[in-house]
Amino acid sequence: MNFFIIKEWLKYFHLQTDEHSLHSPYFYKFYTELIKPKHRRNNSAFDEIEKQRKVYLKSTEDIEMLDYGAGSKVLKIDRRRISEIAASSISQKKFSIFLNRVINHFSYKNVIELGTSLGINTAYIAHNTLSNITSFEGDPSLCTIANDHLRFYRNIKIIQGNIDDTLALHLEESNEPLDLAYIDANHTYEATLKYFELMLNYCHANSILVFDDIHWSREMKEAWENIKRHPQVTASMDIFDAGLVFFNPDFSKQHYILNF
Ligand SMILES: C[S@@+](CC[C@H](N)C(=O)[O-])C[C@H]1O[C@@H](n2cnc3c(N)ncnc32)[C@H](O)[C@@H]1O
Repeated sequence: MNFFIIKEWLKYFHLQTDEHSLHSPYFYKFYTELIKPKHRRNNSAFDEIEKQRKVYLKSTEDIEMLDYGAGSKVLKIDRRRISEIAASSISQKKFSIFLNRVINHFSYKNVIELGTSLGINTAYIAHNTLSNITSFEGDPSLCTIANDHLRFYRNIKIIQGNIDDTLALHLEESNEPLDLAYIDANHTYEATLKYFELMLNYCHANSILVFDDIHWSREMKEAWENIKRHPQVTASMDIFDAGLVFFNPDFSKQHYILNF
């Protein structure tokens, strides 16, 4: 963990509140029904996905990976152990369950994930939902692995390639209203704002954009602050692991920092 995140965590820890600070009925319900319920130990709905996570965590296989660093250019080709990727760069169960709950609650149909990695979170957001998931990944080895274990999901499509090229093309070609996007790939200021602006054209009053790692670095924090201030954003939530933005024009501009 870097020093910047530790400082950010301490700030968040002091500022976070819970449902008692939420006067808007929409956000009270959103928090108490979608964020607050912790997954229970006996929740078996996701057992198969967790079994797959364990397979990856135990894997001794190495893969050749295109290293984008925190940018959009391939810096080098790395050899990385699958178990290390599973341990360090995929979403936690608690967070993936939260995304699944949001998608189900609003019966979202069109969902985008930027950054598939091993496809564990992709499985969560596709599992028992009515949504069509389009997930974007630049690394060919990760695409092969994810496509293999996600092959039984009819509602997942993985688009391989640099998101800088593939996202705009996909949005243009599909030309559909976007319900939810989870942005978890290229953690730079420029890319985060570029993807936000591209997706904004397809958002509606009930869309939600979820930005991962908003406290990961100074530039990600700055990108998040700019996104929050955008005139089309009518409310935002910081749950530390991610930031959520809302577009309903009936909301009075509010920024919530909430315990997750
Ligand atoms: C943090 S991981 C995604 C984790 C996944 N969303 C989850 O929750 O488990 C980020 C992924 O984004 C991919 N990535 C980063 N920059 C990219 C780019 N410019 N184009 C395509 N993929 C990119 C990386 O290869 C990596 O697999």
